[in-house]
Parts: sequence; C-alpha cells; structure tokens
Amino acid sequence: MPVYVLTGANRGLGLEFVRQLSANSNNKIIAAVRSLSNDLTDLKALNDSNKNIHILECDTGDVNSITSFVQACANLLFDDGQKIDFLLNNSGINDVPEQTSLSIGEEDLARHISINVLGPAKTVQAFHASSLLSPNVRILNMTSGLGSMEKSATMTPRKCTTYSISKAALNMLTVHQGEELREKGLPGAVVICMDPGWVKTRMGGEDALIEAEESIGGMLRVLHGLSKEDTASFWTYSGEKVPW
Ligand SMILES: NC(=O)c1ccc[n+]([C@@H]2O[C@H](COP(=O)([O-])OP(=O)(O)OC[C@H]3O[C@@H](n4cnc5c(N)ncnc54)[C@H](OP(=O)(O)O)[C@@H]3O)[C@@H](O)[C@H]2O)c1
Repeated sequence: MPVYVLTGANRGLGLEFVRQLSANSNNKIIAAVRSLSNDLTDLKALNDSNKNIHILECDTGDVNSITSFVQACANLLFDDGQKIDFLLNNSGINDVPEQTSLSIGEEDLARHISINVLGPAKTVQAFHASSLLSPNVRILNMTSGLGSMEKSATMTPRKCTTYSISKAALNMLTVHQGEELREKGLPGAVVICMDPGWVKTRMGGEDALIEAEESIGGMLRVLHGLSKEDTASFWTYSGEKVPW
C-alpha cells in the first residue's frame, strides 16, 4: 500500500492530486490542509467515496504546525509499520504578482520564502528526523517555470518577481535535498522539482492553458517513472527536463 503525503490538498492542484490518487484503493493518502476549520467540502467528498484519505492540518508557513503535522503522520503510520513513499510539497502562494524587481515588498518576500521554501525544507527535515521517509522516497517540490533562471531571462512582461525568487530558491533546495538525503541514510531517495504548466486553478486563473486533470495526470506519470539517476532535476508536467 503506497503512502502519499501532500500539502495544500483542499483545492486546486492538490485536490486534483488527491482525486486521481484516491481512485486507486491500494493508495493511502495523507492530505494536509492549512486549516481544518476551512471549507473542506470537496476533499471530504472524495473521502466519502474512496475511504483511503486521512485529512490532517499543516500550515506550511508555520514551523510549529509542520512539527505537529509530522507527529500526527507518525501516529498514523507507525502502528502499521509504514513509511512515506511519495511526498508532494504542493502548497504555495503567489500573492503579489504585480511586484517587479523594482517594487518588492519586504514582508511579501519573507512570506513567500516562508511558505514556498522554508515550508518544504522544514517538512522534509522533520520527516527525515522522524525516520518516516522510505529508503526510496520520491519527493516532488512544486515549482514553476518562473523559477527557471534561463526561462526568466527572456520572459516578458516583467512580473511575479517575488514569487519567482521564492521558486528559484525552492529549486536550489531541491538540489541540496536530492543529494543530502542520500548521504543521510536514504540511498534510493529521489527529489525533483516540477513545473505543473499554466493550470486553471485559483492561482493560475481562468486564462490558463490546461485543466488540472491534465497537469496532474502528467505529473504522476513523471513521478512514477523516475529512476535513481533523476534526483535533483527539474521537470515539466509533460515529462521534459527544464533548464535551471
Ligand atoms: N496553477 C498554476 O498555473 C501554477 C503554475 C506554476 C506553479 N504552480 C504551483 O502549484 C502549487 C499549487 O498551486 P495551485 O494552482 O493549486 O494554487 P491554488 O489554487 O491557489 O491553491 C494553493 C493551495 O496551497 C495552499 N496553501 C497556501 N498557503 C498555505 C499554507 N501556509 N499552508 C498550507 N497550505 C497553503 C492553499 O490552501 P488554502 O485554501 O487554505 O489557502 C491551497 O490548497 C503551488 O505551489 C503553485 O506555486 C501553479
């Protein structure tokens, strides 16, 4: 029974991950949401039909919340002697798309780094420290084409700078995690970052090019086809490598 853990599961790409993964009753899914007090109707409806989803709270902008989440996962998994096979660091924000390199807000940048970079860093750190990652764990850090230096060099118009900086930092985190987990007891670990495409979610907006179903279908194909050599690499949802 493969164990999947993902953050930001209540809507958008996260919800679609849960929808596709929960259709296979062999999968066990730990679906984390920022707050259990929020409207979780869609996520709960998936569990009503499939019964293989555990909904837990994890605010990825709050280290204490991450610590409590990892402990809650340990309580769920240890009894069955299970470890995490797939960890999808999906939650993210792009709150100030209008900001450019000449108008970055201090608090805005700190918030984007906290949720988009420190969150995935602390989540992996805490799961590793709790020995909850399987020796061949696959970790997906959800990035963006906007996090690519090479692609950004020619991108117009100039916008989303605050978000782009945070995703470039997430890409660097991916490279470090991908190598360090192997050095620290997980010889088969593979950590990648992935651009989901421009997708019709609240973040992507209505003008986006693809539906969440297509993006997630592609990302799961890439994720399930990864080999050991693929650690610390950057992919599109459709399976092409992205230049850093
Ligand atoms: N859609 C696109 O075109 C696109 C393109 C490139 C990259 N991405 C990336 O894909 C990921 C998912 O994006 P999306 O399109 O699904 O966006 P979305 O529709 O805005 O959903 C964002 C998700 O992240 C969660 N989240 C935000 N802050 C959080 C926090 N502090 N703690 C826990 N969860 C938090 C949200 O929970 P709440 O509902 O509680 O706020 C929501 O579940 C993001 O990392 C994003 O950067 C998306």
